[in-house]
Amino acid sequence: MASVAIAGLSKRFGTTTVLAPTDLSIEDGEFVVIVGPSGCGKSTLLRLIAGLEEPSTGSIAIGGRDVTHAAPADRGLAMVFQSYALYPHLTVAENIAFPLKVAKRPGADIAARVAAVAESLDLTTLLARRPGALSGGQRQRVSIARAIVREPQVLLLDEPLSNLDAELRVRMRHEFARLHARLATTMIYVTHDQLEAMTLANRIVVMSEGRIEQVGAPLDLYAAPATLHVARAIGSPGMNLMPAMIEEADADGVTVRLPDGHAVRASVAGAAGTTVMLGVRPEHLVPDAAGPFAGPVELFERLGPLSFAHLGARGAIGTVVAQLPGDRRVTLGETLAFGIAPDRVHLFGPDGRALPRLPA
Ligand SMILES: Nc1ncnc2c1ncn2[C@@H]1O[C@H](COP(=O)(O)OP(=O)(O)OP(=O)(O)O)[C@@H](O)[C@H]1O
Ligand SMILES: [Mg+2]
Repeated sequence: MASVAIAGLSKRFGTTTVLAPTDLSIEDGEFVVIVGPSGCGKSTLLRLIAGLEEPSTGSIAIGGRDVTHAAPADRGLAMVFQSYALYPHLTVAENIAFPLKVAKRPGADIAARVAAVAESLDLTTLLARRPGALSGGQRQRVSIARAIVREPQVLLLDEPLSNLDAELRVRMRHEFARLHARLATTMIYVTHDQLEAMTLANRIVVMSEGRIEQVGAPLDLYAAPATLHVARAIGSPGMNLMPAMIEEADADGVTVRLPDGHAVRASVAGAAGTTVMLGVRPEHLVPDAAGPFAGPVELFERLGPLSFAHLGARGAIGTVVAQLPGDRRVTLGETLAFGIAPDRVHLFGPDGRALPRLPA
């Protein structure tokens, strides 16, 4: 286990900056999940930490030791990739043992470590098989076993579940949570899947276009996204977002006008005349016949314990998704209307940053 401290770390390829100077401190034993759209620099950041890329500027310390220019093998970390990269001609046991063989550990030592790791990942009965005779989830477990067999201080994972089907992803997600609880290894995990981020992370790092947008505990990012990008990245179904204009500001907040003429109150500090994006989470919409968010139900998603009503788009106001109790009956085409409490409304300014909330 070790902390990871990144200071001023950046990466250019030629004249293209793919990672702007970045600071990030990860605590010993933390599970940090990096999310963001394709091409935003997640893998680059991970590869810099691993030592697979040379930084353009900045430094990396692992466990308090500067490893900025250390070889990958001397950083005390291991990396698991999306493609399992197992050796097809070796058995599961030989694949797991491989890093220990390379490190020239004594044979008895190797056998004991392999047995222990296989046990912890439920691979004991598969040790004699070759990768070709394993399922996708079993292969991914072998690649994790191979990564942790040397007891890395930091485990880096780049979209480790993205090749697996939906059911297996959920199972493996639970295994990662258990693995982290058991090993207490510092883990840095890259994913596209915000549900993986929400459920696994101690802290989430949201990236966009080569920069860190926000770092925080999952529920803090969910409740108070600092930017439009974070609001879009966290939550499923996502936050409803629509253009609006601040019409009036007073001590309690602002009155915002939607393109269809409806007014919405928000407990937010802002100036009259500002163009904003208004954001509301589906679960914060409350039935209100005179409410500003209204429209015919175009799609009704029944999930069992709850349902989501998709209200048809009205011009600049796109589809609005509202959460309803699971036992609520709705017919397609029926018009529903919702309101929202002022302290549940998010407003994002022209620069994409959230306008400050007013204390309740
Ligand atoms: N060797 C390279 N030379 C030039 N550009 C590169 C190189 N490697 C990556 N890039 C660019 O850097 C940017 C970030 O790439 P990176 O792989 O870090 O993104 P990512 O967030 O991991 O994306 P994905 O979710 O698709 O895996 C991309 O625009 C990519 O094209
Ligand atoms: Mg990537």
